[in-house]
Amino acid sequence: MCGIIGYVGKNDATNVLIKGLHRLEYRGYDSAGIALITQNDIFLRKVAGRVNELAQTIEVSVPQSNVGIAHTRWATHGVPNDVNAHPHTDCKNRFAVVHNGIIENYRTLKKFLEEKNHKFISDTDSEVIPHLIEEFYNGDMMAAVKKSCSYLEGTYGLVIISLDCPDRIIVARMGSPLVIGKGKDEYIAASDLAAIISHTDQVIYLKDGEIAEVEKDHVKIDRRDVGLITPEIEHVTLTLEQIERGGYDHFMLKEICEQPVILRDTIRGRLNYDDGIARLNGIADYTERLRDADRIIIVACGTSWHAALIGEYMIESLAGIPVEVEYGSEFRYRKPVLNKRTVCIVVSQSGETADTLAALREAKRHGVSVLGICNVVGSTIARETDAGIYIHAGPEIGVASTKAFLAQIMTFALLSLLLGRLRRLSIDEGRIIIEAIKRIPDELSDLLECLPQQIKEIAMTFKDHKNFLYLGRGYNFPVALEGALKLKEISYIHAEGYPAAEMKHGPIALIDKDMPVVVIAIKDAIYDKVLSNIEEIRARYGIVIAVCSEGDTDLKKYVDHAICVPYTIDPLYPLLTVLPLQLLAYYIADFKGLDVDKPRNLAKSVTVE
Ligand code: M6R
Repeated sequence: MCGIIGYVGKNDATNVLIKGLHRLEYRGYDSAGIALITQNDIFLRKVAGRVNELAQTIEVSVPQSNVGIAHTRWATHGVPNDVNAHPHTDCKNRFAVVHNGIIENYRTLKKFLEEKNHKFISDTDSEVIPHLIEEFYNGDMMAAVKKSCSYLEGTYGLVIISLDCPDRIIVARMGSPLVIGKGKDEYIAASDLAAIISHTDQVIYLKDGEIAEVEKDHVKIDRRDVGLITPEIEHVTLTLEQIERGGYDHFMLKEICEQPVILRDTIRGRLNYDDGIARLNGIADYTERLRDADRIIIVACGTSWHAALIGEYMIESLAGIPVEVEYGSEFRYRKPVLNKRTVCIVVSQSGETADTLAALREAKRHGVSVLGICNVVGSTIARETDAGIYIHAGPEIGVASTKAFLAQIMTFALLSLLLGRLRRLSIDEGRIIIEAIKRIPDELSDLLECLPQQIKEIAMTFKDHKNFLYLGRGYNFPVALEGALKLKEISYIHAEGYPAAEMKHGPIALIDKDMPVVVIAIKDAIYDKVLSNIEEIRARYGIVIAVCSEGDTDLKKYVDHAICVPYTIDPLYPLLTVLPLQLLAYYIADFKGLDVDKPRNLAKSVTVE
């Protein structure tokens, strides 16, 4: 959830740390702090607010240093203020720690430490860590950190500095991501690659239970129950440009506009027209298991959960395999009925979502094969699944997920095509799907040319409304959920998504002349039914904003605003119908002057429970 970074090397630590924090800010941005090793002490600054405020605070007063740590926070324990901001220190300010995760037994540890006269100043769970290190430090820093970690329950990514070992940082991981970048005479440890790749493409992914002692030209890794191991250095291909805004006002808009290109990447090399089938090398060893599964359970959270619902509809209708979709947070605490023929698929953009990860581990404990659909290469979920499919959406920085959603849906289309062909679709049916898939990127490009102006006008008209309803049926029901989620997340307008026909079972009571209702009414198999739902809204003076099929002149007469998308086959419609909803949410939030890329209370990667 939070962004953490540590630096040891030949360069000015402050500069590296502040730049890195800016790149990590999407992970949390309610307070920030920095700690640096100086000649005689640890220099510490913490502020409530964003990284820029921290940078301004230290501008004139910061000492020269080559070793330091920094943090950008998303509060879990304790309000966002200067004191609760990280780094946290021990009683004598000899150790400073930045922490990402949650220490679940911190109350017990705090009591234990207070009984030994340690003084706490913050309301955070994290503050126990420097005090534990202080308690156990006996001249050997690694040993003190190891012992402290053995007391911690919960999740942590830690970067630690100590006045007693001024030439190094200590890094530890359990359940929260940590990557160490190896430069020339320098190392940078951070919660993700975004803060590292401008320095180096050589990285070490720290694993759970590992603690690393990092000096400017040397790294030593200790793995719990194993001892010292040889660090595995990997080469990453991500470029800095990929994670920068490229001229757009916001990452969200950039990411919406990238969608045609992204989908080309998602399908590249994965379609075999001659055989009318998809090729998914990442799960090649599990294809038969999937084909013969008696049930597929898809687990995800948030937007990924909406993509999973679309995946459910696709797999059931194209391949005829029963599918259930679960929230990670529910699945992990249920007693799911699983057997050897169940296959679990976890879906996550970040690959770090704590609830999804816990569900993955729960499924594995039951001996079930678990496959992943992930975006971030090398993420924890990608590593812990038995096999998986990367969606190739590239780094998604905007907190509101957009391009990853489309790439996830497209991945489900490929998977459903593959399973469908292995079970019941003919070559010709497969080829029809492939042709439709291949048309989608160009159709999206065309829409991106013509939709923004129209949607800006609609957004300006409705930006001050307090409530919205989103309705859709079939494949477009999850799109309605996603449209409502996007609006809520970035514009703070209350919005609800429903299956259109459910409206009459309750939400219809909300409809009056002030209620905008976004209805996805494309010419699919249940078009006529949706028309009846629109009539019901009109009969109650509701305002209808319809997403409809190109050339549907009849519908245009009945609705207040009609946004047209081209024809495609029913399972692929969500790839087109969600675009206007993403743009609508974006422009409403932008017109309201809100911080689109960093909406309040949210974080890009939810690595706490
Ligand atoms: O990284 P994940 O796909 O696992 O994230 C799941 C949700 O936290 C995420 O989709 C969240 O709902 C987004 N903010 C939606 O825009």
